[in-house]
Amino acid sequence: MADNNKQQQADPPACAGPLESAKENREKTCGENREKTCGENREKTCGENREKTCGENREKICGENRKKTCESDVVLITGSSSGIGQALASQLLKSGCRVYGAARRYPASENWQKNDHGVVQIQLDVNDAAGCSQAVARLIEKEGHLDAVYFNAGYGIAGAVEETPAGQAASQMLTNVVGVSTFLPAVITQMRLQNRGSLVFIGSMAAVLPIPFQAYYSASKAALEALALALREEVSPYGIRCMVVQPGDTQTGFTQSREKLSVPENSVYRARFERSILKMERDEQLGMSAEQLARLILRKMKKKTLPPVYIPGLIYKTAVVLKKILPLRLVRFLIGRMYSR
Ligand SMILES: NC(=O)c1ccc[n+]([C@@H]2O[C@H](COP(=O)([O-])OP(=O)(O)OC[C@H]3O[C@@H](n4cnc5c(N)ncnc54)[C@H](OP(=O)(O)O)[C@@H]3O)[C@@H](O)[C@H]2O)c1
Repeated sequence: MADNNKQQQADPPACAGPLESAKENREKTCGENREKTCGENREKTCGENREKTCGENREKICGENRKKTCESDVVLITGSSSGIGQALASQLLKSGCRVYGAARRYPASENWQKNDHGVVQIQLDVNDAAGCSQAVARLIEKEGHLDAVYFNAGYGIAGAVEETPAGQAASQMLTNVVGVSTFLPAVITQMRLQNRGSLVFIGSMAAVLPIPFQAYYSASKAALEALALALREEVSPYGIRCMVVQPGDTQTGFTQSREKLSVPENSVYRARFERSILKMERDEQLGMSAEQLARLILRKMKKKTLPPVYIPGLIYKTAVVLKKILPLRLVRFLIGRMYSR
């Protein structure tokens, strides 16, 4: 080959022969052989085997089961005592999953009693970091695996930013964002060892279109979205799927649980705040039912690959498209007309 190259340099370009033979030889030494040593073998050692060890098996373990809507899957849902979490729990139970639910209002019990629907109730505050990792460890010890976690627990505060005490802003962030990190290390370790698992984060449209007088709630959901999106790439090589769901108005106990901050007598925001909250509450009570939302989420979960962000409902999908194409100033003007007049 070296000789051929020399020949090639020495001969004028018109010498088709040496060029041909150099090309052919190169073709042989690099092309065929490489094909043999790298191509075929790699195909054998990496391709087929990888296909066998990862592809087929994973397909068997994850694919088929997932398609069956998790007949033997073990699922943990935070905030399963009400609304979206409760609806997810009841539909997952119907499809044959074993469902563990965490919430503060569940009865305290050492033995984790099942409720009437079959949800194993774990009394837990998501702000209790030690309690959360202990609960995950105990669940895994009992079941041997953990297939999906729905990070759903959350609440909203409402008030003008100027009148929101730092403590209440911090509590909002703690429950809605840090309350997820209390579970994540233990959950990810287990799913990584299993080489499979799904993490679903219940965010909000407020992350996409932040709402006046719910600024800290919007900020908490935007932070949750960022956390989930960054995590998705970290864990995807280990067979772990991540999806953020961003629901719009949904009829749940969320409206009643909203923490409305006390408005000072002489507040300049009072009238606008009251109008804004009234509209928000009305919209929520006319929104999608929790059962319908749960159905949509679980339909998505049957797909082999999950979208990074899922926005249920045509009206909200349209709002997101409009946000992308309209100038931000116009988008914010429209949001202001709706929630800040
Ligand atoms: N409803 C809507 O319009 C809407 C729209 C977009 C997004 N979301 C989001 O959807 C998720 C579920 O809310 P939802 O609408 O179903 O409201 P919900 O009916 O009030 O349910 C909230 C659930 O979270 C639990 N929770 C709250 N704080 C907790 C804590 N510190 N520790 C453990 N559990 C806690 C509650 O249980 P306990 O009180 O028993 O602890 C309850 O089970 C929330 O993250 C919310 O931000 C709701």
